[in-house]
Amino acid sequence: MGLKDPIRVVVTGGAGYIGSHVAKLLVKRGYEVLVIDNLASSSGKNLLYGEFYPLDLANEEGLCELFREKMPDVVMHFAAYIVVPESVEHPLKYYYNNVGNTLRLLSAMQRAGIKNFIFSSSAAVYGIPESIPVEETAPLNPISPYGESKAMVEKILRDMSLAGELRYVSLRYFNVAGADPEGEIGPTYTQPTHLILRALKTAKGEFPFLEIYGTDYPTPDGTCVRDYIHVMDLAEAHILAMEYLLSGGSSEVLNCGYGKGHSVREVVKLAKAVTGIDFEVRETGRRPGDPPVLVAKVEKIKRVLGFRPKYEDLFLIIKHAWEWERKN
Ligand code: UFG
Repeated sequence: MGLKDPIRVVVTGGAGYIGSHVAKLLVKRGYEVLVIDNLASSSGKNLLYGEFYPLDLANEEGLCELFREKMPDVVMHFAAYIVVPESVEHPLKYYYNNVGNTLRLLSAMQRAGIKNFIFSSSAAVYGIPESIPVEETAPLNPISPYGESKAMVEKILRDMSLAGELRYVSLRYFNVAGADPEGEIGPTYTQPTHLILRALKTAKGEFPFLEIYGTDYPTPDGTCVRDYIHVMDLAEAHILAMEYLLSGGSSEVLNCGYGKGHSVREVVKLAKAVTGIDFEVRETGRRPGDPPVLVAKVEKIKRVLGFRPKYEDLFLIIKHAWEWERKN
């Protein structure tokens, strides 16, 4: 490939949930990892792999200096705010960090001459899709500032790529869940909003009951349907995307899911089966901004990257998340 050895990868947000799993897999595969994180949303507990740089992405000069010194081959960009309802309440906070600081990062890369980029996008860019499973070519109609911030960055990347300024893979994550099967790292949110984590923390007694937000959706059992993907399979997708770019692949946008939908009730049932705890569940009204069904069409990632998931089983995903929860 004519690349220097070992390949050097910057992971922004590498102390966070998904970034830390990717950092671990990269190190295990022999890549050199530089983690950039300001620890705004994570404790640092997951900082086990790679060399840590406590930098804020607003610090473009600091990024540029680091990039010029280290000359990484690729930048993987996880660092972002992710709470959808919070983005509705505080849009500027989301645009400032998710768009503004991404621009600073891209500018620092450009100034240092680094041209390969992997972006953490989201199914939230689709809003409420017209057809399911949703394809990458579907129109982008985000319904929250969070989703909009991801769609904006995708447009910036598309234009930069068309101009020859970089090549990128944008990975549109569906519902990421689970934890490192080896139990070293996992989600560390203190106030999780995600269904599986809330269910497991309810089983642990951290919450008195679990709420089901809406039972009158036009779905088989009335609750929302999502496409849950194991965080370790998602990590593998990042490695494949990076190897694809480094071997000359052109810019791509790819859904990351399994193409299989599970309802909220189904998740609750499995969480009870995994934990063996019959925790209290209360049915309440809909949560604003929830699309009824979000399931990925996944042919493209399989075709372009040869993605073959290893943990495609919701029971296993919840089991790994539970093993982590019990230990922590
Ligand atoms: N839910 C509950 N009770 C809870 C938590 C969630 O019923 O305590 C429901 C939600 O209403 C939703 C489903 O469970 O129907 C899944 O909710 P999550 O919060 O786990 O995940 P989302 O689908 O809302 O969000 C995920 C990512 C976002 C991304 C979004 C795309 O976490 O980053 O998908 O729509 F933007």
